[in-house]
Amino acid sequence: MFVGPTSLAAHRIVPVPLSVTPGSGAFALTSSTSIVVPSGNAEVARTGDMLAMLLRVPTGLPIPVTAASGAAPSGAIVLRLGGPSSLGDEGYELSITADSVRIVAAAPAGVFHGMQTLRQLLPAAIESQLNFGRRAAPVWTVPAGQITDRPRFAWRGAMLDVARHFFTVDEVKQYIDVLAMYKINIFHLHLGDDQGWRIQIDSRPKLTEVGGSTEVGGGRGGFYTKAEYAEIVRYAADRYVTVVPEIDMPGHTNAAIASYPELSCSRPMPASTAVARVQGTYTGTEVGWSTFCPDSENVYAFVEDVVREIAAMTPGPYFHMGGDEVHVLKDPQYIKFVERVQDIVYKHGKTMVGWEEIGKARLRTTSIAQQWKSDSVPPAVMQGAKLVLSPAPKTYLDMKYTPNTELGLTWAAIIELRAAYDWEPRTYLKGVSEQQILGVEGALWTETVQNIGSALYMTLPRLPALAEVAWSAASDRSWDGFRQRIAGHAARWRLLGANFYPSPQVDWDAAAANPPAMVP
Ligand code: ACM
Repeated sequence: MFVGPTSLAAHRIVPVPLSVTPGSGAFALTSSTSIVVPSGNAEVARTGDMLAMLLRVPTGLPIPVTAASGAAPSGAIVLRLGGPSSLGDEGYELSITADSVRIVAAAPAGVFHGMQTLRQLLPAAIESQLNFGRRAAPVWTVPAGQITDRPRFAWRGAMLDVARHFFTVDEVKQYIDVLAMYKINIFHLHLGDDQGWRIQIDSRPKLTEVGGSTEVGGGRGGFYTKAEYAEIVRYAADRYVTVVPEIDMPGHTNAAIASYPELSCSRPMPASTAVARVQGTYTGTEVGWSTFCPDSENVYAFVEDVVREIAAMTPGPYFHMGGDEVHVLKDPQYIKFVERVQDIVYKHGKTMVGWEEIGKARLRTTSIAQQWKSDSVPPAVMQGAKLVLSPAPKTYLDMKYTPNTELGLTWAAIIELRAAYDWEPRTYLKGVSEQQILGVEGALWTETVQNIGSALYMTLPRLPALAEVAWSAASDRSWDGFRQRIAGHAARWRLLGANFYPSPQVDWDAAAANPPAMVP
């Protein structure tokens, strides 16, 4: 039997909210519970529908959604705009009494995040795809009280590398579902690397014909058509997650070069091993050896085509140009390349993001550098660029949990759950102030990760830990608190069919190890 918290004081919410004030009593879902959304706001109505779909199946209750602007009926779950501007776009107030649940926000994203908090206050069985209402039913209650919440950082990201191994649209949607549950709002898609090109570009059809045909280990690879990419972007946007497309360049580009050999400087080439690799597709896992030719106008015409088409199909404000690990160019060549690409990205209306190496170039003040290896002030910050922190020894989700983890790598660190949680962005880089930090991001590189089950094993529970680093106030965070709260989440992951690593650092709830038999 699953039971939820009996008092708000015993909540298991991740990321921990800014302020939680327990009340007395509880709100119960019953056959007369409805969801009330404001008239004339399609976004909040969509969140209301999502909540209704979440609640209906496991409870077996009808949970109608109605649009109304006046006073809500007794027994309703009310979603409202009009909250104080101090909540920002993503904050919310959640008020629970025996009589009603009210989620009030200043913008629709806040209503959505409040809905995710409400979800975590219900018994874990709420995640079931089967009707629990027909067996010894859990009591579907939410403890009374008041929560006021808003995020610490604006950029709360997760990156999925779909280049080393390809992930289908359905797998990507499962991944986005996990992000949404933990209030992650940036989904960074690593769409091109040595081993694969994953996005349809009409003006350069060989990218997907040739570059999309492989992956690490020699599998079939794959790519997203424009319609599929639009479906991913829409699915994410409906959950207030912004897709940040990354085309990594000038390095990590063998799949593009195999498709269009003129992108490389080195033709005709001497017969060396590296050259043999450049001439064809590549399914190994070495890094740093491929590069576009920074002195070739063919390359900038190509970048223009790719950025133009991706910018046109991406509603979000960002384009990530990669820029990491170019071991075969001299600095002046690299700098020239980054500055030319930066102009192209801004010409097509996007803000440029790149890995920290881009700080060698002259950056526009709005460009964003993604730290991953430095432990001192990256040059990008000296130029005034904002930083996204993705320190590999803390946030790289492809690092092993222990030396015995079957999947994953170890080059940056071995990252057990506590190490993923117990670090502070403000003090991680000496000389970088909180104002210079846009946020944090976890990265799942997929050299060793072949499918969504493996991806989620590496992601859960570390991404929820990072979500708390990103969302919650530093003063509200503690490893003991997180450890105690996350223990209640494995039962949810089981019911969602999401694989996870049962870290021995957590005393997981018994229901996590033994999910109840389900009624067909
Ligand atoms: C990276 O890990 N090469 C950004």
